[in-house]
Order: sequence, then C-alpha cells, then structure tokens
Amino acid sequence: MAIYFDEGTKTFYLEGRDTTYAFYINEFGYAEHLYYGRKIAREPLTYTRGLIAGRTCAAAVPGLDDAGYSSYQYFATELSFFGSGDYREPTVLAENECGDRLSELLYDGYEILAYKPKISGMPSTRGEETLVIHLKDKLSGFGADLYYTVFEDTGAVARRIIYKNEGNPALTLRRAYSFAFSLPSQDYELLSLHGAWGRENQVERYPVHFGVSSVDSKRATSSAAINPFMALISRGATEELGEAYGVSLVYSSSFVLKAEGTGDGQLLVTGGINDFDFSWALSAGEIFETPEVLLTYSPDGIGGMSRRIHDTVRRYLVNESFVYKARPIVINNWEGTYMDFDTEKLKAIIDGVRGTGIDTFVLDDGWFGKRDTDESGLGDWVVNEKKLPGGLGVIASYLKEAGMKFGLWFEPEMISPDSDVYRAHPDYAIKAPGRENCLTRHQLVMDITRDDVRDYIVESVNKIIDGNDISYVKWDYNRNVTEFYSLGLPKDRQSEFAHRYALGLYDLYERIVNAHPDVMFEGCAGGGARFDLGTLAYFPQIWNSDDTDAEERTLIQYGTSIAYPLSASSCHVSVVPNHQTARATDMKTRADIAELGAFGYELDASLFDDSDRAAVREQIAEYKRCEQLVLAGDLYRLDSPYEGNFFGFMLVSKDKSCAKMTLYRRMGRPNSTVKRFVARGLDESKKYFVEELGTTLSGSTLMNVGLLPEFSAGDFKTVTYHIYVK
Ligand code: DGJ
Repeated sequence: MAIYFDEGTKTFYLEGRDTTYAFYINEFGYAEHLYYGRKIAREPLTYTRGLIAGRTCAAAVPGLDDAGYSSYQYFATELSFFGSGDYREPTVLAENECGDRLSELLYDGYEILAYKPKISGMPSTRGEETLVIHLKDKLSGFGADLYYTVFEDTGAVARRIIYKNEGNPALTLRRAYSFAFSLPSQDYELLSLHGAWGRENQVERYPVHFGVSSVDSKRATSSAAINPFMALISRGATEELGEAYGVSLVYSSSFVLKAEGTGDGQLLVTGGINDFDFSWALSAGEIFETPEVLLTYSPDGIGGMSRRIHDTVRRYLVNESFVYKARPIVINNWEGTYMDFDTEKLKAIIDGVRGTGIDTFVLDDGWFGKRDTDESGLGDWVVNEKKLPGGLGVIASYLKEAGMKFGLWFEPEMISPDSDVYRAHPDYAIKAPGRENCLTRHQLVMDITRDDVRDYIVESVNKIIDGNDISYVKWDYNRNVTEFYSLGLPKDRQSEFAHRYALGLYDLYERIVNAHPDVMFEGCAGGGARFDLGTLAYFPQIWNSDDTDAEERTLIQYGTSIAYPLSASSCHVSVVPNHQTARATDMKTRADIAELGAFGYELDASLFDDSDRAAVREQIAEYKRCEQLVLAGDLYRLDSPYEGNFFGFMLVSKDKSCAKMTLYRRMGRPNSTVKRFVARGLDESKKYFVEELGTTLSGSTLMNVGLLPEFSAGDFKTVTYHIYVK
C-alpha cells in the first residue's frame, strides 16, 4: 500500500520506494502541504509550521479575530483559493451567479480507490491505488476533488483535480489548474526547455525569486517556444548532486506552470490549463476535469530526476504494445525529394535501401490532393493520381515485394484554402466573424472543436490508412491557431476554445490512433512543436526537430532527454551540407547522434552506391545491437553541449551488465587538452569488457578513473564505447 492515512494527525503519506509526499488536513479543514522528498518516517510534521508563527498584518481565517499563523496565505498548500486573505496564485477561480469569485475550499472527506480512474476525454498515466480528497465551499456548492496516485518504483506522483458544481445555478471557471504544492524555501532554480522551429527544447535555468516565474503557451498547442515541463532544482544542482523536482503536464494545448516565491519564504508551485483567455461554464451538477500533472522528486540531481521521469513515462504512459519493442527503421523521403516525386522516384528510393536493414518507407507530404507545393491540397485526403498513377497500392505492392512496410504522412488538423474540402466547406476552417485569417505556410487550422469537422477528418484519414496496408503514420501539425473562435460555440463560451481544441485533438487520437492498434504513429509538429506527454500517450515516438544537423541535434536531444525518454525522439540521418544549417559532419557522427533515439534516415537513397549501403547496413546493425539501451536503459548525461565543447551520453542496461558511451567533440583544436569522461551507472564490483580498448576494467575504475577518448582530427567528431560483462 502506497497511500497511508494517519487518523490522529489527519496526515496523508504517499510513499514511493524511497520518497514520501505528505500533507494534512489542518484545524481549519485546509489541505496543507507538508513535504515531498526522500522517504521519512510517518511522523507528525506540523512542527514545521512554527516557522511561520507570529506573523501579523495578515487576514485571519474567517471566524477568527487574530491571524497569528492562522491565515490561509501562510499555509503551504495542496490547492490555493482566491479570497479570505490569500494573495498567492490561486489554483482555481470560480465565479458564481452573483459575480462572487471567492471560494473557501475546505475538507469534506477522502476516499482511497483501489484503481486509478481515467480522465474523460484526456490521456493520463496507468496506475492503481488513488487517493481522492474532497474539498467543498460551504456557500456556493462549488467543490474540488484532488486526485493522487503515487508510483512506488519511481516516487512520482500523478495529480489532477475535478472541479464540481454541486447545486449552484451557474458557475464559471475562470481558472482551473491541476495541482499546487509548496516547497519550503526559494533556494531553487527553474529549469525549462524553450526554443523555436528547428531549435527545440533548449535548456535554460535561472534562480526563482519573489513573485512569479512561469512557463506558458497561449497557442492551443504545447509549442516549440516552451515545453509543458519545468524542473525546480536546488541552486547549483548538477546532473548528480542536488534536489530536483520535475513538473510534467500531460496536456497538448495552452498551458501554464508557475513557481511563486511568496513573502513568507516559501515557493508555491502550480499550473495546468492556461487561464489566459480561458473560462468554462459549469452548470449545476456538472464537473470539469483538469489534465494530469506528473510530479517527480529526485535527491540525485537533474540526471536522477530524468531517469525517474523516463521510467514513469515508459512504464505508465506510453502505449505498452510499442514502448519496448524494436522500432521501425525508417527511410523518409522528405529531405530527399520534398514534394517533387513520382512513383518512379519513390521506387528508386526503395531500391536504394534494399538489403540495408531499413524496413519501413515513409512517404511524406505531397502524395494527396493538389499538392506540389505547400500552397494547396491539405484536407483532401485522396491520392494525387497525377503523381502516383494507380494510387498508393502501387507503392504498397512494391514495398511488399521488397520486404518493407509502408508509412504515410498526414496533417489531419489542417486545411488549405486551395482545396476541394475548403471549397465545399469553408466553415471547417477556424475563423472569427469578419476578421481576415492569418495564414501560416498558406494553410488554415480546421475547427476540431466541432463534431462534424472531426467526423470528416476521421473518415477520410482512416479510409486511406485502412485501404493501403499502412503500418506507420506520421501525424504532422505545421501551424498554430491564430483566430481563437468557433462557430460551434455560443458567444459567451468562446474562451473555452483552447481547451476544447485539446479535447477535439484527443478525440481524433482516440478514433484514428487508437483505432489502429497495430500501426505505429509518429507525432510531429513542424518538428518538435507538440512534444508533450499528452501526445506521447498516443504516439510512442515524436519527430524531435526538422533540424537534422548532428551538432544542433546534440543540443536538442540533450534538452529533450531532461524530460522525455530517448525512445520518445525520432532521430534521422540526413545528407550534408545539412539542409537547415549548411553544416557538414561525418556520416558516422550523424549516425552516432541519431542512434540516441528511434533511428532512421531522411534523404534521397536513390543516390546511394554500394559503399553508402554498406555504411547504412553497419549503422543499422549498431543501432539494433544497442536498441534496448535506447528503449529501456538508464541515461546518464556525462557532458553538456550547453556548457562546453563536448556532449556525452551513457546508456546502461537496468541490470548493469551492458552500456554504451557516446561522446562528441564540437570543435577540434590543435594540440588540445585531454578530456576524460567518467562512466556512470555501472556496478562498481563488476568487471566490464571495454570493446574499443580490448581491455577488461572494473566498474569502480571506469566510474572513477574514466576513459580518455581519442577524437579524430577535425570538428564534430564522435567516439563510442561498448562496455559489457563478458
Ligand atoms: C514538417 C515536418 O517536420 C517535416 O518533417 C515534414 O513532414 C514537413 N512538415 C512536410 O510538410
């Protein structure tokens, strides 16, 4: 049992193997946070409140005349509410029929469920025992149920809140976050993953301070600008040392995550659906379910936090049928041909990779409608017979004969003004009355908050998948919403749009992705602009970035690995000079870096000669040899490309019998200094064979003395080591 309730002190202990999350119901019925950290004894922790005793000039809890520390704003919190003297970021803001936005959500009982209920219409982790704390506002009939599931092996805690209108004639939610908890000091840095197209998941860290630090998206998608993740790490924490709290939202639309340094020295952590341009009408008897958030604690630095997140995500979120299974080795034609192809060209690409081990051909953008450029065709999910006479069946048969599988690109949420579907149904596109639409890449976004629009998408996309022996789908999304408006919503509910977009998206995922349990779906959003746990719950892998340059990829993959397992990133070898950066790197370097994710190729393979094919064969053999380390191993980041000239990843099998070190040097320098990389994650007492040295060394030597790679002359070079018990 991971959830324990001490009746005497009214304390709930949520226990992982080596962690404790504790809160209690205080004398006013307030759900007061106590602790999240290393495992502790089940002892009363209320003595910690002494730290805030003796404060004055604060509003007392209603009914008292003297605050002392009996003021809501001083209680570390599981849910903060607006009013009664609490000026911190509220977790919720609900307006009742009188226009009153205050609430006082106090304890109204608890339940421990033997199972973990699903969230209706949204993805969430799989789990078991779940604690539900009922909170209720006496006056308005407004209530909140706080859900907690702790994963014993990783200590991660999944949280969410259901807001309930139990009898108020009309409530409007103006904010409905998923969680709140407090850290006892502000000695933390906020680590976030920001970026842009081609430069996703770049690492930034900065000290938190008094007031609010936040990461957010207002785009109705999670975005490349900033990922729906933040970590709070103790000041100066390294990969191995210090405390780290991960906050990962299982959500794919506008979000916000906040860390607020408050006057009493605490740090309030909260967030969920972005309340910017958000409201939700809640009639009597209705509930509102918030997305799940995954909280992770590590006493072992940022690296320890990442490993706990990776394990939680792989074990409890990603589709079980795919997560640890060998991934398709893909040749994708995008960088090879862009939209300029015909059947003969595609056959030549397939011929180019015969016998190499590449097992899946993914036909990217341009196979449908009138689609020779990005100016037309989106939404017309019928094959372009001018380019592909005889249809996709010709390619499917050719692939079958070559012993390969067929993958296909879609951008289901989009519509081109120059398309048959738009001419027939211009109202399918999102539009605000009287306003001219913003175009991005000449395209518009479909209003997937509407049932009829979703029905059209599901029917036309599924027809192609079902009729053409498709085993792999790449689901792209190349622009953000700009006109936040739906013709399907009344005027006073337009601010429900961004969340309804998420619900529409998950409905599409259910009806297209989950309707094809044998098809591998790859997420994509012009690269990694929708790289989030909501998407990962349906797509075992996501195209990490359109930037396929190996040097850039070290930065992108390093950042992504902080919050997502390596198996979540698709990584392809492309040609040089690289199409995004014009940089030239060795094929070996490109392959070594791409092998740190779900591996594949993205180039014109019809140009391959025998030596190219031999190189590809070798790279695939190498990837397959170490694939289980990528899919299921522990990641140790040995060196950060954000801090210097090197990048180093080490993958270690769970039983510590086998590992691979991938080291990369950015710039070659004459007469350069020696760089030593110390291994991590091995068993000190085991003897390991280091294949590249032809030597056996003990774990303790490798983890203390380390290895000294000899990079070949030049820039952007890699060295790999295979380390295993013989
Ligand atoms: C953006 C994706 O990231 C690319 O890989 C490619 O699929 C293009 N879209 C196609 O339009």
